[in-house]
Amino acid sequence: MLPDWAISILRCPETGQRLEAGAGALVREDGRAFPCFDGIASLVHPQTLQESDARWNRFYDAIAPFYDVSERVLGRLLTGVDMARGRAEIVALAGLEPGSQVLEVSPGPGVFHPLLRKALGPASRIVSIDLSLNMLRECRRRHGGLDIAPIQANALHLPFADESFDSLFHFGGVNLFSDPGQALREFVRVTRPGGRIVWGDEQMSERFSHPIGRRVLPHMNPGFRKTPPPPPSGADVLAQHEVYSGLGYLIMARRRA
Ligand SMILES: C[S@@+](CC[C@H](N)C(=O)[O-])C[C@H]1O[C@@H](n2cnc3c(N)ncnc32)[C@H](O)[C@@H]1O
Repeated sequence: MLPDWAISILRCPETGQRLEAGAGALVREDGRAFPCFDGIASLVHPQTLQESDARWNRFYDAIAPFYDVSERVLGRLLTGVDMARGRAEIVALAGLEPGSQVLEVSPGPGVFHPLLRKALGPASRIVSIDLSLNMLRECRRRHGGLDIAPIQANALHLPFADESFDSLFHFGGVNLFSDPGQALREFVRVTRPGGRIVWGDEQMSERFSHPIGRRVLPHMNPGFRKTPPPPPSGADVLAQHEVYSGLGYLIMARRRA
């Protein structure tokens, strides 16, 4: 189950009310209970997802055990990008404060978890939310020892009190969300004033020069045809960088006081 500090900042994603730990569930004061699956709290709202969110959720649940194998093989063939180096660069650029309280949104199978734990240090508190329960199971199977609390939740309805986190880190979901603007507003809401909000996703820039990848990737993944959504009001953009050799972008912002 979740540590006490995480339960203290949890809120019902439907009503914003506090939740308490019950027998194998998180319970609202009126008795509404949110279940845990294999020890992972499930706080998904709405229960009936938007059609595209539901479709992506089925997709990521199905590929969770193979996520990085397919990424490595296909990635190498079609992009030539060194993903491990790209991830290290992303976490370094994110500039998260050691010892702080951080929310990661959409970890997938935890591809950033060792890097985040290393950058933030043992005194930090990290929560990771993903819509895919199977991805969170993979996080725990691969990185269970890293003390990162997993919660199943929708990025469009984060189950946390306002201003719960010093920083928020997200990579790789914005292009998929049915309403990216709403997710970014939620990122602002749960970050404390002055806190850092970092997000990014795929985007193909001129710098990406792989001849096959340039032709094939936009057909395989519509994300490569997208541009970043406008930044949310309430956050000031500090910097924007190309990452993954021109196959992605990363935006660093600060929540306005
Ligand atoms: C392309 S993967 C990115 C994983 C990892 N962050 C990376 O950079 O490789 C997208 C992730 O977003 C998650 N996701 C999709 N829709 C979501 C939503 N509405 N709320 C939270 N997570 C979502 C998926 O389950 C999946 O784990």
